[in-house]
Amino acid sequence: MGGVLGIDIGGSGIKGAPVDLRAGHPLTERLRIPTPEGAAPEDVAEVVSEIAHHFEELGAGKGPIGVTFPGVVRGGITLSAANVDKRWIGLDADKLFTRAVGRPVTLLNDADAAGLGEARYGAGKGVRGVVMMLTFGTGIGSALINDGVLVPNTELGHLQLDGREVEPWASGATKDREDLSWKAWAKRASAYLEHLEMLFSPDLFIIGGGLSKRPEKWQDLLTLKTQVVPATLQNEAGIVGAALMASERRG
Ligand code: BGC
Repeated sequence: MGGVLGIDIGGSGIKGAPVDLRAGHPLTERLRIPTPEGAAPEDVAEVVSEIAHHFEELGAGKGPIGVTFPGVVRGGITLSAANVDKRWIGLDADKLFTRAVGRPVTLLNDADAAGLGEARYGAGKGVRGVVMMLTFGTGIGSALINDGVLVPNTELGHLQLDGREVEPWASGATKDREDLSWKAWAKRASAYLEHLEMLFSPDLFIIGGGLSKRPEKWQDLLTLKTQVVPATLQNEAGIVGAALMASERRG
């Protein structure tokens, strides 16, 4: 079957598929296993290993694996855990996964993976200069990419704006929890994106997360100067970006 395996660890599901890195999309249907209650490191590692073995049995080979994590990852160590078990903080997750799976694992932040995937194959393909991706899901993730090169771990969802943290105010989960209209959510998102625009002067914003499937609901409501487009790989961006990182890091 070939391809490089990408696995995306999310708050509700852990999803993986071998990726065709020439085309930039999964070679088969994804396997999704619910995230174990509490998302403790050992339990998550077991699921990652299960997904790897599933695709090994289907003939996907035993090459490197890219895995995303919803927090800061530096040198294979997970350094923050805003929406997962606090035991991840300071953990050598790269080692934990590599041992659990028995194959080299490259770990990176989930939004960084999605941003890399979009920049190479999706909404940012062929765009020169600074691309900033924001994912509005349970949390707010960010990726900063300049001419295809990622600056990892920007964590811009935790920025303070008008004395409050943006993530719990403007995330996709907050829109659902507070039952915000698209107009009300877009007002918050505009204030946030305008602030980022002032700080970074990006050439393009890419918006990911569940709401990227319905751009007609928010795209015209945003009040920015910079071009804003929805992610096009949608929920495959993390898997694709993780596989890409694993192949480039080890290749
Ligand atoms: C985390 C980020 C992550 C984002 C999306 C935030 O709470 O701090 O690392 O990318 O959620 O999952």
